[in-house]
Amino acid sequence: MGEEIKKGLMGVTVDETAVSKVMPEINSLTYRGYAAQDLCAECKFEEVAYLILNGELPNKKQLKKFEKQENKERKISKILVDAIKKIPKKAHPMDVARTVVSIMGLEDKETRDNSPEANMRKVMRIFAKTPVALAAFYRSRKGKKIIPPKSNLSFSENFFHMCFGKVPNKDIVKAFDVSLILYAEHSFNVSTFTARTITSSLSDIHGAITGAIASLKGPLHGGANEEVMHMMNKIKKPENALKWINNALDNKDVVMGFGHRVYKSGDSRVPTMREYFGKVAKIKKDKKFEKIYDIVEKVMIERKDIHPNVDYPTGPTYHLMGFDTDFFTPIFVISRITGWSAHIIEQHAANKLIRPLAAYNGSKHRQVTSLSKR
Ligand SMILES: CC(C)(COP(=O)(O)OP(=O)(O)OC[C@H]1O[C@@H](n2cnc3c(N)ncnc32)[C@H](O)[C@@H]1OP(=O)(O)O)[C@@H](O)C(=O)NCCC(=O)NCCS
Repeated sequence: MGEEIKKGLMGVTVDETAVSKVMPEINSLTYRGYAAQDLCAECKFEEVAYLILNGELPNKKQLKKFEKQENKERKISKILVDAIKKIPKKAHPMDVARTVVSIMGLEDKETRDNSPEANMRKVMRIFAKTPVALAAFYRSRKGKKIIPPKSNLSFSENFFHMCFGKVPNKDIVKAFDVSLILYAEHSFNVSTFTARTITSSLSDIHGAITGAIASLKGPLHGGANEEVMHMMNKIKKPENALKWINNALDNKDVVMGFGHRVYKSGDSRVPTMREYFGKVAKIKKDKKFEKIYDIVEKVMIERKDIHPNVDYPTGPTYHLMGFDTDFFTPIFVISRITGWSAHIIEQHAANKLIRPLAAYNGSKHRQVTSLSKR
């Protein structure tokens, strides 16, 4: 018998991490020991970013310092702005996210320094500048004037400001902040594992995050929040939802925003995000998407016992906030930079080259014949 193959590394434990865990005893995703939904109730995104990167929640003084550093790094270079203006307008913003982080790596004086101190300084730059670069593309592809970041605004407020030229009411900002907290970290998912794999060859943080973004783009991972919106747009109205989802299941289609490799009886992030989706829908006086949401969810659970993941409520929430659908996954990026970075730093601290084996199923050994004889 040949080697046992664990396709998709399913159920394989490849390393240790202190960053996050889905704790079965509380049935919840936890960051550094804190339940993600408790963090949503008590903290703003900046506090959670600090926690993920530093291991502890900040006190007031530490938070102020962290916010000041983030603020200071918001400005992006002229080279980057010019590059963003030249990017084809039809480019997918996830490809733009990948490209802007890559360009930042070209510009960063410390790109090749993988010490913990340099890595933390680079994290602050990537964390602060990526939303600014993405918002610049959000505007430039519509032929609108790029709006520079404003230093008296929070991370979330500033993103709205740079995309739309205004900050919405505080409940909408809070819903956005909550989505960032819930998206910030999730252990050895595909993109984080990609980042750790790149890091394991002692490559640099810009490269690792660039690779992680490419990995997150896929519809089986972060790209699912965009696919959820495409699905809702195809369904169009609540009256069509029942027929649509039953047809999809009869056809054995994969329904985006449902299922998860780790959670098999419900994603612990969903109830919180569902609540904030409801709040945003109420403010926007929109019932359509909530109705479609509930019908599709009910059928998925009844017929397949498959529960929604966090991309299911974030998709329509971002839509109601006014974001273009192809910007949903880039929003995921600006949050997950924190989780990826914590893992990259962790990988550097106890590195082992990631190099698995494969069971060979190709041709037996054969002799090479010269070109004239083939
Ligand atoms: C996330 C995902 C890739 C996890 O996949 P996985 O752990 O490899 O599990 P599988 O794909 O093997 O799913 C197990 C079974 O459930 C079914 N299933 C899982 N998710 C499903 C979905 N979203 N819609 C329909 N069926 C689904 C599979 O078809 C499979 O059925 P089978 O045993 O009859 O073949 C998968 O659930 C999926 O594709 N979801 C949609 C994309 C998505 O929302 N991604 C975001 C994740 S946060």
